[in-house]
Amino acid sequence: MNISVIGTGYVGLVSGACFAEVGNTVLCLDVDRRKIAMLEAGAIPIHEPGLDSLVQRNAEAGRLLFSSDYDDAVADADIIFLAVGTPPDEDGSADLTHILSAARSIGQRLVKPAVIVDKSTVPVGTADKVRAAIAAELARRGVEVAFSVVSNPEFLKEGAAIEDFMRPDRIVVGSDDPDAAQQMRKLYAPFSRNHEKFVEMDVRSAELTKYAANAMLATRISFMNELANLSEVLGADIEAVRLGIGMDPRIGPDFLYAGMGYGGSCFPKDVKALVKTASDNGQHLHLLSATDMVNDAQKNVLFSKLVRFFGGVEGLHGKNIALWGLSFKPDTDDMREAPSRILIRALFAAGARVTAYDPVAAGEARRVLAAEHGERLCDERLALAPSAHAALEGADVLVLVTEWKEFRAPDLPLLAASLRHKAVFDGRNLYDPAAFAAAGLVYEGIGRRAAA
Ligand code: UGA
Repeated sequence: MNISVIGTGYVGLVSGACFAEVGNTVLCLDVDRRKIAMLEAGAIPIHEPGLDSLVQRNAEAGRLLFSSDYDDAVADADIIFLAVGTPPDEDGSADLTHILSAARSIGQRLVKPAVIVDKSTVPVGTADKVRAAIAAELARRGVEVAFSVVSNPEFLKEGAAIEDFMRPDRIVVGSDDPDAAQQMRKLYAPFSRNHEKFVEMDVRSAELTKYAANAMLATRISFMNELANLSEVLGADIEAVRLGIGMDPRIGPDFLYAGMGYGGSCFPKDVKALVKTASDNGQHLHLLSATDMVNDAQKNVLFSKLVRFFGGVEGLHGKNIALWGLSFKPDTDDMREAPSRILIRALFAAGARVTAYDPVAAGEARRVLAAEHGERLCDERLALAPSAHAALEGADVLVLVTEWKEFRAPDLPLLAASLRHKAVFDGRNLYDPAAFAAAGLVYEGIGRRAAA
């Protein structure tokens, strides 16, 4: 099949490369010419394990093409995916500017029947708007071309995107046109070989399914974060509680990890957008509003612990805080809504210095933090260390921010010898409090019981 994918962000590039991998001819379009030039030169604009070789292999085989020209993307396509960004508007709703502009560009060029697929996370009702935008352009041109708009939300996780795409738990397709649904079933057949993964439904239910999934996962995390804070007060250990409840098959073990609050480009944005969609329709989502509030508060928990440790905000003045990890989660350089940003902002405000090491995200972090705080403040207060070990030099305490694999087995005697205040703040509950205590280190996790 001839596939076009509009937008070469995470979802667009990964989907395009994976569709090419199973034998389709895929054209990936982005209006950002620099990005397309990069991709044509074999460079990948994002950090995603395995993506570079996948893109390279399929580009070399001539199955994966790049362009900035809508004429190329629309002319021969049987299926056109919309995978452009839907950043949050100021009021929390999803901004549809890019989606609708892509829809118009398609309508201005469509000459043969095609299925248009919403893959971006878009509010319920967007498919209708996309359909109307394309139809209006066709009417303006005075041509009639049959087309369908279907919803096919994406559930891949950054850092595991290719695996998630190639071996999905489910493929959700919302369509009001049986022929379009049939074409989608054919396209996805190679990803659904051993078990039926295809779930067909109406368009609006598919659109809502995407938000429901992220909202449920975000709510689990906020629930655990609240219980973690309660555990501290009660002298319980959230890690034990997590194991205890996760063994119940009705609950399951995943996404029960207390931490520094969820970040990334999806959960915070999607939770807010769903709350907004509901309020636009006269409903208040109490539970989800609380999920969002709890998350905002959780991003400050580690800072509060540091303040307590240093005997007040003034105690942090002039201190050097080592951070391990900056990205919102491991295996990505993505800094969007990363809890590290909230922590660093608070540390800067308190007059502390930060020495950070991240295996991949340092460059992106520097760019984002300089844009937020100015180059000068970053030059004065932020040092990016070349290794985890180097970040400890001259540090007062260590904060584990992102659970990259290389932080899992730290050299405890070295930590104890390096840190002036011999204290580690574990924002991901990665470590064993007893081992740290035995090494003479103060250990503070999230909702952990102090070692006896
Ligand atoms: C999330 C969903 O997991 C994907 O299914 C979805 O497709 C994607 O959003 C999207 O809508 O595009 P992603 O944002 O890449 O994927 O990352 P996650 O692995 O879900 O992590 C999100 C945040 O939750 C991270 O900050 C992570 O540290 C945090 N988290 C996750 C916890 O604090 N505790 C947990 O138990 C799990």
